[in-house]
Amino acid sequence: MKDLSNYYKTIESAVQAELQAYQTIVEPVLYRAMEYAITGGGKRVRPMLMLLSADTLNIPHKKIIRLAVALECIHTYSLIHDDLPCMDNDDYRRGRPTVHKVFGEAIAVLAGDALLNLASEIMLDACINNHSLISAALFISRAAGITGMVCGQAADITKNRYDETELIKMYTGKTGALIQAAIAVPYIAEQNENVPVIKELGRHIGLVFQLADDLLDYRDGSDKEKTTYVSLFGEQKTLEKIASFNTKCNKFYDALGLSQSALKEYTEQLSHRLS
Ligand code: IPE
Ligand code: IPE
Ligand code: MG
Ligand code: MG
Ligand code: MG
Repeated sequence: MKDLSNYYKTIESAVQAELQAYQTIVEPVLYRAMEYAITGGGKRVRPMLMLLSADTLNIPHKKIIRLAVALECIHTYSLIHDDLPCMDNDDYRRGRPTVHKVFGEAIAVLAGDALLNLASEIMLDACINNHSLISAALFISRAAGITGMVCGQAADITKNRYDETELIKMYTGKTGALIQAAIAVPYIAEQNENVPVIKELGRHIGLVFQLADDLLDYRDGSDKEKTTYVSLFGEQKTLEKIASFNTKCNKFYDALGLSQSALKEYTEQLSHRLS
C-alpha cells in the first residue's frame, strides 16, 4: 500500500489554512463549532480520493487542493445537519458528542450553513485564480444540492418503504454524489475523455461506501430504527451487493487502465474495513 502520510498532511494543513483565515473575524462560538466539526477525526475520504484521482492524470495536488477542502467542508456540514434531532438525532459522532450536543442546535445549524458557504467561497476564489476549475466546481455544487446529497437526505428522512432500486437511488444521492465528485473533479478539470467512466466508478464507490457504513452501523447497533439496505435485505444480501458493486468498479478500473493504481488500492480498503 502506498504511504499516504504526506497526503494526509497536505489535506490537514490546507483545511487549517482555509479555516484559520477566519479565526479572528468570526463569532467565536461559531468558529469553535466549525472547527470542532471539521477537525474531529474524520477519515478525509473525499479529499483523499480527489488527490489520488489527480495522481492518475499527473495533476499536481496544489491545483485541486482547494476544491478538495471545499468538498470536505460540504461533507462536514452534511454530517452536522445529519446528526440534528430533526434528522438522525445522533448524540455521538466519531466517539465524541455531536456538534448540537456541545454547542446547541442553533449554532449547529449555523455552523453547517457557514461551512457550506465557506465551500462556495473557497471554490469561487480558486476559480478566479484558475478558470479551468470552473466546471469542476460547478459539479461539486450540483453534487451537494437538490439533485445530489440534499435530495438523497430528503428521501432518507421522508421515506421508509423502498424497493431496491429506490433505495440505491437514495444512496446515490446522499452518499454517492459527493464521492463521485471527489473522484471525477480532476477528470472534469482536465476535460478528460474518460469523464463518463470515472463518474460511474465514483458513483459505485460511493454506493459501496454507504453499504459498508450501513453494515458497520448495524453491527454496532447504532442504526436500530433506520431503514437501510441491511434492515431491508439482511447482512448476507448486503455483502453480496457490495461484492457485485466491487466487481463493477474493477471493470471501470480496467477500462481506465488503473487496475494497478493507488486510487484502486485505497478504494478497496474502504470496503475491507468490514472484515
Ligand atoms: C459518513 O462519512 C457519512 C456517510 C456518507 C456514510 P465518513 O465515514 O466519510 O465520515 P468521516 O468524515 O470519516 O467521519
Ligand atoms: C450519511 O448517511 C449521509 C450524509 C451525511 C449525507 P448516514 O446517516 O448513514 O451517516 P452516518 O451513519 O450518520 O455517518
Ligand atoms: Mg442520515
Ligand atoms: Mg446519520
Ligand atoms: Mg450510517
